[in-house]
Amino acid sequence: MEKKELIQKALEAQKKAYVPYSNFRVGAALLTEDGEIFTGCNIEIASYSPTICAERTAIFKAVSEGHKKIKAIAIVGDSDFTYPCGVCRQVIREFGKDATIIIANSEEEYKEYKIDDLLPHSFGPEDLK
Ligand code: THU
Repeated sequence: MEKKELIQKALEAQKKAYVPYSNFRVGAALLTEDGEIFTGCNIEIASYSPTICAERTAIFKAVSEGHKKIKAIAIVGDSDFTYPCGVCRQVIREFGKDATIIIANSEEEYKEYKIDDLLPHSFGPEDLK
């Protein structure tokens, strides 16, 4: 997997952000275990609560197309290293327990995490079995 390629795709997706209320643009690109790439941007709605983050857009696109295992996800935003919100961390936990999470400012400047770094002591599917 080429991390820079995934970051590049997240940067491309970020351009598509629909953010008339916050003007804060986020892009995400993920690689599935079976080698497919899905991208997403944040989409804001006038009544605010239906707003969806870039990460969940990308993940729900992948899952709804039958790809449930995330190998890596790159995230870019308008702040210095934009980290996923708590809700998105839980969603990454569901479909990317071992995924590499790439928080990027650019193709050259990025940090890597696992979901256990960002959501320690998490609750997940195994707890319901
Ligand atoms: N946002 C994301 O898309 N991902 C994140 O990780 C943080 C927040 C979006 C939601 C909203 O459209 C805007 O950024 C400001 O919160």
